[in-house]
Order: sequence, then C-alpha cells, then structure tokens
Amino acid sequence: MSEKATLTYSGKSYEFPVQVGSENELGMDISQLRAQTGLITLDEGYANTGSCDSKITYIDGERGILRYRGYTIEELVEYSSFTETAYLLIFGELPTPIQLQEFHELLTRHQFIHENMRHHFQGFPASAPPMAILSAMINTAGCFQPELVQPADESSFMETAAILMSKVRTIAAASYKTSIGEPIVYPRFDLNYTANFLHMMFCMPNKTCHPEPEIVRALDQIFILHADHEQNCSTSTVRMVGSSQANLYASAAAGICALWGPLHGGANVAVIKMLERIHEDGQPLDQFIEGVKRHDAGVRLMGFGHRVYKNYDPRAKFIKKTCHTVLNKLGIHDPLLELAVKLEEVAVKDPYFVERKLYPNVDFYSGIILRAIGIPVDMFTVMFAIGRMPGWIANWREVHTGSQLKIYRPRQIYSGSLLRSYEAIEKRK
Ligand code: CMC
Repeated sequence: MSEKATLTYSGKSYEFPVQVGSENELGMDISQLRAQTGLITLDEGYANTGSCDSKITYIDGERGILRYRGYTIEELVEYSSFTETAYLLIFGELPTPIQLQEFHELLTRHQFIHENMRHHFQGFPASAPPMAILSAMINTAGCFQPELVQPADESSFMETAAILMSKVRTIAAASYKTSIGEPIVYPRFDLNYTANFLHMMFCMPNKTCHPEPEIVRALDQIFILHADHEQNCSTSTVRMVGSSQANLYASAAAGICALWGPLHGGANVAVIKMLERIHEDGQPLDQFIEGVKRHDAGVRLMGFGHRVYKNYDPRAKFIKKTCHTVLNKLGIHDPLLELAVKLEEVAVKDPYFVERKLYPNVDFYSGIILRAIGIPVDMFTVMFAIGRMPGWIANWREVHTGSQLKIYRPRQIYSGSLLRSYEAIEKRK
C-alpha cells in the first residue's frame, strides 16, 4: 500500500498520497489540499515545491550528483558529444549510429537563418545586450517556421529540435559579428556543431580558420555540462510558458530572458567582472571575503552557492580541470584563474561558507575558459543558452506529451487593501 502523509488542521486530520520517485525522493501530492482543507501552500521561491514529475534529469544536491536520463554527467562529458547528449535529453535514449547521423544531418540542413532575418540584426543598437537579441531573434525565427509542431511524433519533432538547436548557434554568432561590425559568416557543411559555431564566431567570409580540436572539444564539453539541470528558473519558465500551449520558440525565448539574470545564467558574466575588479583594485582576498560576509552593498561571492547543491557542483569540478587544460593548450597565463583558485581556497575553509554549504557552481570557472577561447564577456550567458537549449526543448516536449496538459497557474496569499470605493480625482489629496 502506498504511503500517506497526514496533515492536522483545525482539529481535523487529512491524508495525502506520497509519491516516490525512481531515486526514492518523496513528494506529498497536495493536488486536493485546497478542495479538502481550504488551505494552499506558501513557498516563496518554490524551494520545497515540486512543480512536475519529470523523467529527464536527476540531481542529488547533497551528494553532488547530476544525471541526464540516468547517465552520469561524468560519463557523458567524457564519452559523449553535445549533439548526442542533446538527442538523449530530448528523446530519452542514446541514439543509434543511424539516428545520430540523421540528427547531425538535420542540424546541418537547418543551420542557415532565413536571409530576411539578417537585416533584423542591423535594427539593434551596437550596445544591445546579446541576450536581448538572442531572445528576440529566437521568437523571430519562429515566425519563419510556422508549421505545427507535433511533440509526440519522434521523427517530426527531431526536425523541430534540430531547427531550434541549429539556429540558436547561428543567431548567436551573427549577433556577435554584427556587434563588432564584421560581416556575418555562413555556417559550413563539413563541421560538427561546436566547430561550426567557432567558425561562424571567429572566421571571415574570405578567410577560413581552423579551430584547434582541443578547443572545440572543450567548448563541446561545456555545452554538455550546461545541457539540462532539472527545474531551474529558466527551465521552469519554459515549462510554464509552454503549459499555456505557447509554441516552442516563444517558450524558449522566455527561457532565454529568465536565464539572463545574474542569479542564474548571468552569473558567469558577474564572476568575471568580480574577478577583474578584485584584480584591478589589488584588493586583498580576505578583505573581499569579509565584505561578502557582511553583505556590503549586497555583494555576493558570484559563482558560489546553489539552491540545490549543498556540495561541490559536479559541473564545476570538471570545468576547473578543463580551465587548466585550455589555458595550457593556448599558452595563456590568466591571473584571473590564479585569483579564482585562491578565492576558492579561502572561501571553502571559511565558516560562513561552510555553514551555509556554499561551494563553487558551474559559473565560477566557466568564464575563464570562455575568455581564453576569445568569447567576449557579454556573450558568456549566450553560451549558456546554446548549451541549455536541448534541456529546454526536452522539458517543453515533456509538458506537451504528458498524460494531460495542464496550465501552470500557482495561487497566492493576498495581503493588499481590503475593499474600498473609487474616489473621483478632484477629491484626492
Ligand atoms: N555569496 C555569499 N553569500 C551567499 C551566496 C554567495 N554566493 N549564496 C548564498 N549566500 C548566503 C545568503 O546570503 C544566505 O545567508 P543568510 O542565511 O545569512 O541570509 C544563505 O547563503 C542562503 O542564501 P539564499 O539566497 O537564500 O540561497 P538560494 O538558494 O535562494 O540562492 C543562489 C541560490 C544561487 C541564487 C545563491 O547562492 C547566489 O546568489 N549565488 C551567487 C550567484 C550565482 O553564482 N548563481 C549561479 C547559480 S548556478 C547556475 C544556475 O543554474 O543558474
């Protein structure tokens, strides 16, 4: 018999079913709570709220575990490619060689954006934030792709997923080229997903260049590490927007906006700016850390802490290692890496961080790699968005292929004014 949780309120007891996940996480099903008791739950920031039942990604924050569809992040980052991992996330299984080839061909076939879209880039001021451009252009791309998406039909959805994944990378590179006044570079047919992105970012129409295989692989791995992370702010946004039956492009564009903020994907920009500031001011690290602990002007140690991880973020472990590999390969000595390592050493021993279980997260070291590759700082969060696209697509699809599509619509406790009468403007003081 399944377990039940008992709630006592106003002298009466109520029972609610307990749902057990495949990794034994427990959730109390309160879908009948209001109907039975008149109560709703209040959980600002949703720290204790399960918004859905999902089969895509598993995180154990206490033990620092991250798995996509049952596969550990460590195995995927070591043996898989971003394209293969994206397929796994969206369709639930690792592809066969034929399926992977088909997916790769679709990504290549759909890599161009509509020629009319090229003019849209000129409409943005040179100072426009790349995340604003990306979000707007993903919605625009949806206008050029009005066909009905069939989430349950694997083969047609494979094409839909490939169109979005392929175009997000082309749009990102085109927005960068436009912002620096260089001609947009067309994608190539002979390069893999990530090499093609680097080609569009750093080559010229009349000058080919050859990104180093080690650098292509490092960026591919960064994309794998960012590909999904269960119900984070942007993915929940994609699911919420998608639950109103908004199309995939509109939902992904909303996800991009949610990712933008410095407490979420924008943290990778905030980390580099923080490290640059400390480096330029020559501020002693102890002094900086004391300021963080006093919450001076709301300053936080960016790239530290996580709502779910109360242990070292497994993605950060890998990124820290890759930092050294990439910098060595490129022969770069970056003082910010040394600074970050020292900052981590100081923070992880400090009782403030230990008690609050604050460890480096995925954003702490990723910016140092991106900077070394030549990605400009204001494009860092765009890199996160390219990596996260498969997770958003998988979650959007899960919402639309579940047993019943239910609109996400939380409730609230109203604490505003009681009923009052409208007063004509002449009478107001
Ligand atoms: N520096 C200093 N103190 C911190 C930090 C930090 N980075 N993170 C949390 N705290 C403190 C916070 O002040 C609070 O202390 P107190 O109990 O004394 O008030 C306590 O730890 C709990 O913090 P919280 O804000 O209630 O925790 P949260 O789960 O709501 O926030 C977080 C999670 C990621 C927003 C937060 O840790 C943070 O702001 N980190 C810095 C931004 C960052 O690196 N974000 C990237 C997250 S990973 C990428 C992603 O998935 O988005």
